[in-house]
Amino acid sequence: MKYYFPIGIFDSGIGGLCIAKEIINYMPNERLFYVGDTKNMPYGNKSQHFIRHHSMKIVSFLFQHQCKAIVIACNSIVSNALDIIQEKFSQKTILFNVIDPVIKNKIFFSYNKIGICATHATIRSQYYQNKMKKHFPHLTIITKSIPFLAKIIENGIHTHQLNSLIQESFNSFIKNIDLLLLACTHYLFLKNAINNIFKENIRIIEIQKIVVKDIITTLYNKNLLNTVPIYPIPINNHHIIFYTSDFISPIFYAKVKSIFKNNFIVKQINL
Ligand code: DGL
Repeated sequence: MKYYFPIGIFDSGIGGLCIAKEIINYMPNERLFYVGDTKNMPYGNKSQHFIRHHSMKIVSFLFQHQCKAIVIACNSIVSNALDIIQEKFSQKTILFNVIDPVIKNKIFFSYNKIGICATHATIRSQYYQNKMKKHFPHLTIITKSIPFLAKIIENGIHTHQLNSLIQESFNSFIKNIDLLLLACTHYLFLKNAINNIFKENIRIIEIQKIVVKDIITTLYNKNLLNTVPIYPIPINNHHIIFYTSDFISPIFYAKVKSIFKNNFIVKQINL
């Protein structure tokens, strides 16, 4: 596998952009192929069968496009389909995901009651609950799913409406915990708003940082990290390609642009 091949990253929609943004900040020389399955989102209210079927299609797509590593930037997919994705692809490419490096983090030794806020599909899978109990038996874990929150974030919402939704959804939950894990990549967009509303009453774990540190360390150890800009970029290859399975809204496009600047193109694919 060549160091200048792209990193593939995918989510049901825009949630994975929070991870992509961190990748770009800390690994500015990497090429990125991002897939957002906008046609089929939200995944969080779908069956395990649906999530497995569609996520396998996306991983196959990224693998066929020569990605040197693939980042599963969706908790609902990791918790419902990681086993079959690993079975088929772990020998062929390097797989990263947004849960495993987080649930081993030593930060949990400093807390007693953690709140996991995720989609219905993630909570239903018991992936977090089972694994965290193994690593941190002292923890009390409280879970919460908020139906359609990911879809609301994806479609965009006015700040004042968002603030009242956060108050309503998180108020009593946050009173019972001392660390909050936003276990849906879409919810990572709410971090600042939650911090502003609840101030010092809650600490939110920095998932993006933990995940990207894991990616950098592994790629560096395997000699696959681009430490200098690739020049010239191989013909017909763009630095960042944003693949979607459906039309993307102006709000969505603006978010992509604010992260990738003018350095990307959008392509539509069939998923
Ligand atoms: N971003 C996805 C996650 O991390 C879920 C969004 C959805 O429901 O599609 O779980």
